[in-house]
Amino acid sequence: MPIKIAAKVAAPLSLSPDLSVVGVYAPHTPKTASKKTGLPSQVSSIDRELKGALSAHALREEFTAKKDQVLSFSYFAQGKVRKLILIGLGEGPATAAEARTFAGRAARFANNEKATSCALYLPPGLESRLRALAEGIELGAYRFAKYFTGDRRPKADLAEVHIGAAAKLSADAKKQVDLGQAIGRAINLSRDLSNEPPNVIYPAALAASAEKMSKASGLKVQIFDHKEILRRGMHLIDAVGRGSVRDPRFVHISYVPRIKAKKRFVFVGKGVTFDTGGISIKPAAGMQEMKHDMSGAANIVGLMAAVAALKPNVEVHGLIAAAENMPDGNAYRPGDICKSLDGKTVEIVNTDAEGRLILADALAYGRALKPDYLIDNATLTGACLVALGAGCTGFYASNDTVGDQFAKAAGVAGESMWRMPLLEDLRDQIRSDVADVKQTGDRYGGSITAALFLREFIGDTKNWIHADIAGPATTDRPSGWTQAKGATGHGILTFLSLIETVAAER
Ligand code: BES
Ligand code: MN
Ligand code: ZN
Repeated sequence: MPIKIAAKVAAPLSLSPDLSVVGVYAPHTPKTASKKTGLPSQVSSIDRELKGALSAHALREEFTAKKDQVLSFSYFAQGKVRKLILIGLGEGPATAAEARTFAGRAARFANNEKATSCALYLPPGLESRLRALAEGIELGAYRFAKYFTGDRRPKADLAEVHIGAAAKLSADAKKQVDLGQAIGRAINLSRDLSNEPPNVIYPAALAASAEKMSKASGLKVQIFDHKEILRRGMHLIDAVGRGSVRDPRFVHISYVPRIKAKKRFVFVGKGVTFDTGGISIKPAAGMQEMKHDMSGAANIVGLMAAVAALKPNVEVHGLIAAAENMPDGNAYRPGDICKSLDGKTVEIVNTDAEGRLILADALAYGRALKPDYLIDNATLTGACLVALGAGCTGFYASNDTVGDQFAKAAGVAGESMWRMPLLEDLRDQIRSDVADVKQTGDRYGGSITAALFLREFIGDTKNWIHADIAGPATTDRPSGWTQAKGATGHGILTFLSLIETVAAER
């Protein structure tokens, strides 16, 4: 069920939900703070209503509205115990990403408090961030609970959020809330697909989900089954999927704006619905995490749903290469030589480096669409986690201009991403003695050689980005606008930010 979100001008504590959350800017100067409490005048009316109990509590807890500081407070009014939470926003003004985090944390608190209704009171100025706030509410409230039964089921779901603004709302306030909510739900769709177990989401099921979303959003969608994959010459996708009884699929979703588009984007996602490693099998410990190896593909489904809601004046294509990597009598082997869609031959060295193979065919297909931007995202290498830690995407860019553009988009989105170098010195590692290119290099620089391998398949595409999301695609602790352990949907907000920037260019 979608959360009901409504925004209107409302004084703090004037609404009476299960939980009240107040965003508070730290006072800029002692002048704007109350002399007695140091708190901003914004909350002094609450303090008066509570007969000074709030300021006394704030003083004791040393709450000064520093960024991310939290003050939680219970009080008795109108015959009920009520809960109030203040969240510090620092000196502000809050960026869109900070506004999203604020609302996301509020929604997380609401779930933890088993609240079904929540009021979110904004400091003056934050009413201009309704879209980001609505995104945050949906994202923060997200959990993956469908497989719990009995006691393990959540006791309450957040059903309505009242946004209480301190100043007049703009005329398109409702539109902003609706758009933010649609984007938040699109990212949650990506999380759902990634969190689903591998017996539920296999290649055909992933393709069916992409089709369902496309139909519901009015997007065009094409699905290639195994026969069509072979007919078109996508032999690398076939190779990776050959060890599974569950056939591979290729999906092409397109958004074409009504008025002639200025630019064309092609996004590509790795959709390995389960990665055992194949014949080069992975160790048993932690293998269950490899159900998330289709997070890049899930992001394509979520991104396209968000694009359908945003309706930018650019063309956007989403491509998914989906396969299950299993060991079997029919599985592909180290030593095999396979031909890619663009005709290059590849010497297979390790069947656990399957992602780059299916992406190679998808990139070859994508570059034939003559995109202005070709962007792939994939849970590609453990080496990227070694380089940057588990919370940061390593991205590669074919030139500095697009690299800077992408880094800026990630900054605006508030997603942690860092540019990695395409070191030409390492190119030798993927030279093959028997085929055009070798699938893997040695252990050192493993994320870079994977990127260099992918680059072989982009042809003359000028602007290419490869985003290795192996770390941040999942999380093991709540933070910011992510509550649940598991899939995060990390990446979608950056892609959207880039799309919007390019669409706004003249
Ligand atoms: N799906 C994995 C990469 C991965 C590792 C994602 C950890 C998320 C967390 C990928 O298919 C893989 O197995 N990569 C190998 C490549 C190696 C065989 C060259 C790796 O990183 O070890
Ligand atoms: Mn693998
Ligand atoms: Zn993989």
